[in-house]
Amino acid sequence: MISYKELGLQNTKELFAKCIKEGFATPAFNFNNMEQLQAIITAAVETKSPVILQVSKGARAYTSSVLLKNMARGAVEFANELSDKLYGEGKVRIPITLHLDHGDSLELCKECIDNGFSSVMIDGSHLPYEENIALTKAVCEYAHSQKDYVSVEGELGVLAGIEDEVSSEHSNYTNPEEVIDFVSKTGVDSLAISIGTSHGANKFTPDKCTRNDKGELFSPPLRFDILEKIEEKLPNFPIVLHGASSVPQDKVKIINSNGGALKDAIGIPEEQLQKASKMNVCKINIDSDGRLAMTASIREVFNQSPAEFDPRKYLGPAREALKELYKHKIKNVLGSENKA
Ligand code: G3H
Ligand code: 13P
Ligand code: ZN
Repeated sequence: MISYKELGLQNTKELFAKCIKEGFATPAFNFNNMEQLQAIITAAVETKSPVILQVSKGARAYTSSVLLKNMARGAVEFANELSDKLYGEGKVRIPITLHLDHGDSLELCKECIDNGFSSVMIDGSHLPYEENIALTKAVCEYAHSQKDYVSVEGELGVLAGIEDEVSSEHSNYTNPEEVIDFVSKTGVDSLAISIGTSHGANKFTPDKCTRNDKGELFSPPLRFDILEKIEEKLPNFPIVLHGASSVPQDKVKIINSNGGALKDAIGIPEEQLQKASKMNVCKINIDSDGRLAMTASIREVFNQSPAEFDPRKYLGPAREALKELYKHKIKNVLGSENKA
């Protein structure tokens, strides 16, 4: 059992209050390995941005609980060392949160909390409403009763999958009429909502999009009207957007021109995320864009240098591409630069 404070991490309480007050969103970037972690920390320190290190259930199984705990501790030390080098001894300390992404049980959330996570998501969005409340409440009771308060993110409304019906008649968008009841009965610290984002690199089927004469796809706009209604019901309450990758078309092109086969990959336009960041959206989850940036870089190296077999020669450039992508998101999309 270890508290996140011993690892040098922070929960999201003060951070999200600052996000609301100053109109920016904190990046939540997923990681599964050392290169991704290095890219996230370097990008955050170089831009003086707070950052949420996000670990899915799958990432936890891919790595190991013990390794993750020590990677997080190492990430804090690495961030401090880099900050001292760039800005002078002790001058800048970026807030770092270790967060469980899409926790699916009380047991998993407890294990993460006991192993140094400072924030957990319990995703009961697929459950009947009352069951979602009961599960989320149980996680909050455990997380909030720790010596050091652990933040909890809940979810209401189901993100559309590529195969799901996302038309307004059959939507699984968050119902603004439920949010006050859900938040007050569960005690969650933040709420993930469904307003038209979805996971992965193929967020919309082509029939949901418009196509210009060059054959480029344009996604349907996010439902800002729903977000506004939720904000009216829950003033100043931290909102989270999942499935917020923008699927950069330059990366898709590099992948496809170097042997890849991504078809009709399309994401959320960055201007819409910029707008959401200025509202009460305090956390924006980005995973797929990082996967695309790494894959594009690695495919390019392999295509140009087929004899290469030193992992540093392809993971190194991939790490650099990832860092640049994250810095772009921080500076130009989420507005979290200089908010540490
Ligand atoms: O929302 C899911 C994240 O992108 C994590 O994906 O479960 O494949 O690690 P994963
Ligand atoms: P993307 O697949 O759009 O990157 O979403 C990631 C996410 O929501 C992680 O929880
Ligand atoms: Zn998600």
